[in-house]
Amino acid sequence: MLRIAVQSKGRLYEDTMALLSEADVKVSSARRTLLVRAKNFPVEILYLRDDDIPRTVADGVADIGVVGLNELEEQGAEADVVRRLGFGACRLSLAVPKEVDYTGVQWFEGRRIATSYPHILTRYLNEQGVNAEVHVITGSVEVSTSIGIADAIFDIVSSGSTLVSNNLKEVETVMESEAVMIGNPLMSGYKRSILDELLFRIEAVKSAEGKKYVLMNVPKDKVDDILAVLPGVKSPTVMPLADAAWCSVHTVLDEERFWEIIGQLKENGAQGILVVPIEKMII
Ligand code: PRP
Ligand code: ZN
Repeated sequence: MLRIAVQSKGRLYEDTMALLSEADVKVSSARRTLLVRAKNFPVEILYLRDDDIPRTVADGVADIGVVGLNELEEQGAEADVVRRLGFGACRLSLAVPKEVDYTGVQWFEGRRIATSYPHILTRYLNEQGVNAEVHVITGSVEVSTSIGIADAIFDIVSSGSTLVSNNLKEVETVMESEAVMIGNPLMSGYKRSILDELLFRIEAVKSAEGKKYVLMNVPKDKVDDILAVLPGVKSPTVMPLADAAWCSVHTVLDEERFWEIIGQLKENGAQGILVVPIEKMII
């Protein structure tokens, strides 16, 4: 049994559970307990506060965990980053009141900065040669300046709306972060093999992200033109149709490039174009 530490609520919870579900690890959604066994895969989910996840994995109480890279960095816990997960993107930034005439990082000299990330902030200030007072606050850091307990804040910024609604502006980005899977470095071989299977499944899900399966009917004499338009596909499938003058072409397309390519396919005589979602892809 592999034990996975997952944030019990907050910004990573939904995406983490969605990823596990896409990897066909079925966990009951009625979450009444701290520890829940998956129905069809040898894992159990341990629900924790995000701040507790790095240490829990480092101590081996959980074998792996999903947490923001920022949280791992802040705690300097002895856990390996097993895989970046590509969701929960955010940054750790310094922000000052909107009306400040900000001239550069020296502005922070002698000022009070409120944060829940004192280690990352202190390291940054040292690198910049700035002496500032770091005030550790565990919640609602963004109100610190308006209530007068700090001159600036250092916090997570994602959409930026928290800063805007608190009359703050972002002036220095210190670290980019996203959700990562972390692992205990001393995991047993048995657990490692469950993790490998889980990673294989995650890989298949991630490979399919942003991809569509496209099928179309093409006049036989246009097949080469159509194949020339289709980008970066190793070898599209070309199949005969009942009408000998036509064939069917199947391929995988990046969703982003879809509309750009579809016009060229139509110009080259493609008809009956079908676009189908891809759930998993093993490359
Ligand atoms: C963070 C941060 C801000 C907000 C920024 O809090 O403290 O309040 O997100 O996001 P935005 O730029 O999209 O407005 P979070 O929701 O992660 O909760 P926490 O600080 O309690 O962990
Ligand atoms: Zn938190």
